[in-house]
Amino acid sequence: EKGAYRHFMEKEIHEQPDSVQHTLSHYLDLVTGRAKVQTLEAGAIDFARIDRIQIVACGTAFYAGQIGRYAFERIAGLPCDVEIASEFRYRSPAVTPGTLAVAVSQSGETADTLASLTWCKGQGLKTAAVVNVHSSSMAREADVLWPTHAGPEIGVASTKAFTAQVAALLALAVAAGVARGRIDGQSEGELVKALFEAPRLIAEALQMDADIRAVAHDLSKATDVLFLGRGAMFPLAMEGALKLKEISYIHAEGYAAGELKHGPIALIDEETPTIALAPLDDVFEKTASNLQEVAARGGPVIMIAPRTAPDPHGAGIRRIHAPDCHPLIAPLVYAVPVQLLAYYTAVQKGTDVDQPRNLAKSVTVE
Ligand code: M6R
Repeated sequence: EKGAYRHFMEKEIHEQPDSVQHTLSHYLDLVTGRAKVQTLEAGAIDFARIDRIQIVACGTAFYAGQIGRYAFERIAGLPCDVEIASEFRYRSPAVTPGTLAVAVSQSGETADTLASLTWCKGQGLKTAAVVNVHSSSMAREADVLWPTHAGPEIGVASTKAFTAQVAALLALAVAAGVARGRIDGQSEGELVKALFEAPRLIAEALQMDADIRAVAHDLSKATDVLFLGRGAMFPLAMEGALKLKEISYIHAEGYAAGELKHGPIALIDEETPTIALAPLDDVFEKTASNLQEVAARGGPVIMIAPRTAPDPHGAGIRRIHAPDCHPLIAPLVYAVPVQLLAYYTAVQKGTDVDQPRNLAKSVTVE
């Protein structure tokens, strides 16, 4: 039931401190500050003995997979590819024997993701499934079930399932880093601590509500919106664009900020808002300079960044303050304003938020 909330989507956005906490607790031990590597090994995946990860997924789960990729490569030194399942399954990919195939899916029933998983199994690869429905086809098909604990998700637009997927993948990347001897006990402790701060900071991000509502009021008049980010904020930018398209029917694109001048900057005018996801990480300055370029061309810029981030020069840059956080968990914290932005824009437009036109919750036929 929706309780005090107007829509399931709104309720599910607000459930994220809990759903992320539950999911993290499956993979990490809050008391010892360690990753539960042994539990994972008991599931027959030894990260020290694989040499590549191939993630397959669709839609929002694909973006979660891309965020996971940054972590697997950076923390565990494990090469990781991520592909849309509908492409992967038909292009005869060249997979190598040491590859672990990972399907990411809320429902565990998406036809293309399931077919890709089955194909990988047929190639003799080890397989794992990051799924929210633990009795689903993918959960049964994969060698190992890596659960998310988001609880049932009713809104067609995925929110809490997405952050649970990201949380699971980030925690698994830490476990992989430990298993592969890429991080020492101290770094492990720091990363686990950072991850367990996510639920509190997600709750803090939910307080951005009023600011986001004001921006959504303006966005609802736009016909095109750009989302920009670098690093893990790039897939989150694409997720933001997908969310806005799905429920408000406004055309939106997510771009890597550095790609702007290779084409999309031609779209910039006074009517095209740019939403920038800019946590204070090692590429903040780069993103900030991209935003100056947009502002210089008259484009309205909304920069979501912590209060402590310096102001980029340039008129027209409006700021929304996000909580300060460790860069590892920025995709979890920044997912909140991104989701709220889509939600309030759709509410402003009066669309059917929980049941957007033409969409089904689970795509079980291709
Ligand atoms: O159940 P799955 O996670 O496999 O679903 C994948 C996509 O169909 C799904 O994420 C879709 O993109 C959502 N409507 C996004 O909000």
